[in-house]
Amino acid sequence: MIGVGVIVYGYWGPNIVRNFCAIDGFRVDMVCDKSPECLQRVAKAHPAVQVTANASELMKSPDIDVVAIVTPVWTHYELAKAALNNGKHVFVEKPFTFNSQQAEELIELADKKGLKIMVDHTFLFTGAVRKIRQLVDEGSLGDLYYYDSLRVNLGLFQHDINVIWDLAPHDLSIMDFIIQGDPEAIVATGESHLNGHEDVAFITLYFPRNIIAHVNVNWLSPVKVRTTLIGGGKKMLVWNDLEADEKIKVYDKGVSIKSRENIHQLLVSYRSGDMWAPQVEQVEALKAELGYFHECITRNTTPFNDGTAGLRVVKMLEAACQSIRNRAEAVLLNHAIPSKRIEAVTLA
Ligand SMILES: NC(=O)c1ccc[n+]([C@@H]2O[C@H](COP(=O)([O-])OP(=O)(O)OC[C@H]3O[C@@H](n4cnc5c(N)ncnc54)[C@H](O)[C@@H]3O)[C@@H](O)[C@H]2O)c1
Repeated sequence: MIGVGVIVYGYWGPNIVRNFCAIDGFRVDMVCDKSPECLQRVAKAHPAVQVTANASELMKSPDIDVVAIVTPVWTHYELAKAALNNGKHVFVEKPFTFNSQQAEELIELADKKGLKIMVDHTFLFTGAVRKIRQLVDEGSLGDLYYYDSLRVNLGLFQHDINVIWDLAPHDLSIMDFIIQGDPEAIVATGESHLNGHEDVAFITLYFPRNIIAHVNVNWLSPVKVRTTLIGGGKKMLVWNDLEADEKIKVYDKGVSIKSRENIHQLLVSYRSGDMWAPQVEQVEALKAELGYFHECITRNTTPFNDGTAGLRVVKMLEAACQSIRNRAEAVLLNHAIPSKRIEAVTLA
């Protein structure tokens, strides 16, 4: 049994506690929150779990092997550092840290202590993202041309971070998982209209081999949209995460240039074949992720969504914000992003 302590029980915390409780081999021992109301909610939902308002009580408990950090991002570094220094493995929410130096320090500390860090990039454990990665790996789409995602809705405004730090970690971690390469440059634009933090932003990422990615995040959209287009030389797909069935549609559509003799005789041929909707496994992503974390701890293997994967996303977030500050200046990332990728595994 691996003992777990969870800090804290806000909006996302209950999902973390519930899913840790659902994994054989994890035992949630304690939940910490400063708010008495949150602790009452824990006691009602999980009567066997101890509650505390004091994070150091949880950090020092000999029964706890894993600390799950589900607080706002600016607190992640201090809490993760304390957990590692107390000999605990760390499960930490996205985005991993508030800046890349903090992430690098935590990665080094975990390595030194022989402890695991898993960053909650939940979408990597959804059936849809797994299916897209499989299609890319099998070569069904051909050479990738572009990745274009739209993640927009009305609110929820955050007080401490802009829309990029709030929503883009999802898209950037999915893109990182699917493209499996590092961007060379990032250009971003964005604007704040209400609370001093950008609430609308557009990020463009340039990859080797002419792959281009674009992420549109917006807290001021009248409608909720979660749609990603991925185009390749052989096929193209649309992933609409709000669809109950047929989340992914693969189109046998494409373009080829038949002749390049001169610009006036350019012969373009368009292919418009079938569309099919592959079967997407219905899994609770967090449950699959935490099951995988248990396996990584017991088998002493490194998760593919480790601290380094978290750092790659933080570097992209930083570059996007730098570009916005400098009015769409291209931020070159040559060798800035750690590309040590752990092979993704097939989940049980
Ligand atoms: N993986 C996902 O899909 C997903 C979804 C939602 C949120 N998140 C992440 O989860 C984290 C928490 O988000 P949330 O929306 O649950 O937060 P929240 O706003 O609900 O706040 C969480 C809790 O943090 C506590 N808190 C605030 N400041 C604190 C401090 N200094 N020390 C200790 N506790 C403090 C509050 O009492 C609150 O109960 C964020 O990093 C967010 O990005 C991830």
